[in-house]
Amino acid sequence: MGHHKLERFAENLTFPNLFQVSFEMLKEGGFALRGKWAEYFGNDNPITLELGCGKGDYTVALARIHPDRNYIGVDIKGARLWRGAKTSNEEQMHNVAFIRTRIEMIEQFFAPGEVSEIWVTFPDPQPKKEMKRLTSERFLGYYKKFLKPGSPIHLKTDSAELHEYTRDEVIPAGGYRVEYTTDNLYATPAADHPEIPCLAEAQMTQTFYERMFLAEGKPITYIKFYLS
Ligand SMILES: C[S@@+](CC[C@H](N)C(=O)[O-])C[C@H]1O[C@@H](n2cnc3c(N)ncnc32)[C@H](O)[C@@H]1O
Repeated sequence: MGHHKLERFAENLTFPNLFQVSFEMLKEGGFALRGKWAEYFGNDNPITLELGCGKGDYTVALARIHPDRNYIGVDIKGARLWRGAKTSNEEQMHNVAFIRTRIEMIEQFFAPGEVSEIWVTFPDPQPKKEMKRLTSERFLGYYKKFLKPGSPIHLKTDSAELHEYTRDEVIPAGGYRVEYTTDNLYATPAADHPEIPCLAEAQMTQTFYERMFLAEGKPITYIKFYLS
């Protein structure tokens, strides 16, 4: 393992807003903040999750714009989470936290109704393994357990396959409601379309992976939908 990674792992242990919880710890006592995130943040503001957040770009960018909401980025890779944790601590952002875990475990971190919005940003498309796709019915079933009714899920991806799978298979099969969808997010500039309010947030910032895909000339797809 690189020196660089080891340094980041060591620094991760010092960040008060980065929670690293092993499978064994979850099994033994459960996650202490489950159902208590309002106490942790010191307010009842709505909570947004970014799943597969990598460096936490969206989490940090949204949290800067919306100090009246709380943001939690989730990823399994500690060396990537380090970036978001470092920035949010340097900027003394009190509305940001990170969880290092497998998203398969996500329901153990939140009580029913505790989360008000989910962003899934450039997840691995998993063409061969439907069960591992973060928008498969398997994962939506986990999210349903803690999403407040009427909460949106946003998916941004460069993968036409994952976009179409979510839009044309999972959403109709589940009877879910789409608010807006596009095969080419930046072809409809938010500034010209105030009648589509979600465009502004979807175009507001680019993640690390998104910038790479845009540099390769790939169109970015987007869908905003509701499970209830
Ligand atoms: C292609 S990267 C995108 C990262 C970031 N959202 C971005 O756009 O720059 C996908 C991320 O999802 C994370 N990931 C994929 N499957 C996961 C899972 N089951 N549990 C936790 N993290 C996962 C990976 O570790 C990786 O950081």
